[in-house]
Amino acid sequence: MSNWPYPHIVAHRGGGKLAPENTLAAIDVGARYGHTMIEFDARLSQDGQIFLLHDDTLERTSNGWGVAGELPWDKLLNVDAGSWFSSKFKGEPLPLLSQVAERCKQHGMMANIEIKPTTGTETQTGEMVALAARQLWEGQTAPLLSSFAIAALEAAQNAAPELPRGLLLDEWRDDWRELTQRLGCVSIHLNHKLLDEARVRELKAAGLRILVYTVNAPQRARTLLRWGVDAICTDRIDTIGADFKAQ
Ligand code: G3P
Ligand code: MG
Repeated sequence: MSNWPYPHIVAHRGGGKLAPENTLAAIDVGARYGHTMIEFDARLSQDGQIFLLHDDTLERTSNGWGVAGELPWDKLLNVDAGSWFSSKFKGEPLPLLSQVAERCKQHGMMANIEIKPTTGTETQTGEMVALAARQLWEGQTAPLLSSFAIAALEAAQNAAPELPRGLLLDEWRDDWRELTQRLGCVSIHLNHKLLDEARVRELKAAGLRILVYTVNAPQRARTLLRWGVDAICTDRIDTIGADFKAQ
């Protein structure tokens, strides 16, 4: 089985539901709760800057509007990505991947970079994120790259083959074995609802690590860990803490 330096618990979007997702403030909150690894969503601006945002559009998690990937960075730079969550986070910016890497380093945190391409930019995003990740995390634990977009994983594989990759699936695919082999994945990242104990056994027997999202009930997290799941990505960074155990 592949080298897997990552912890059992991963804070979803930085600080789960306790901070505005995918911001530097969220990373700080995740660290304050003792987490040693975070997941976040990375995409490209129209002029090729890599920054964090989950949705294609700005409306849900900021005071901006429109398709973020169609805007140049100077139009995204001053967007407020904190006020929608709470006035306490007013003015929190959309962070660049470079700032995120620096903050992770300061906190001694590992990273799962979910490559979230704006439709039509899968290859470019996969390549650019992988190349940036290689450079920004040099000398540290390699960030785990993952994506729902197969073309993005292919591009990441070509650009920085040494960085570990995980295939993200929200629906079960019977061709998971061929796909993960072709993409050279070390892990499969599944909606936890797709799993039962037999599937965990089958995936592990194929040599894959398993990360599940988004698990917010401690009892479910215990069951999944007992089955042999390697990592739980959670919004409940308070009740499913960094030291959470199966028993
Ligand atoms: O990477 C796990 C999880 O973040 C995938 O779903 O929609 O929260 O990015 P989503
Ligand atoms: Mg994500």
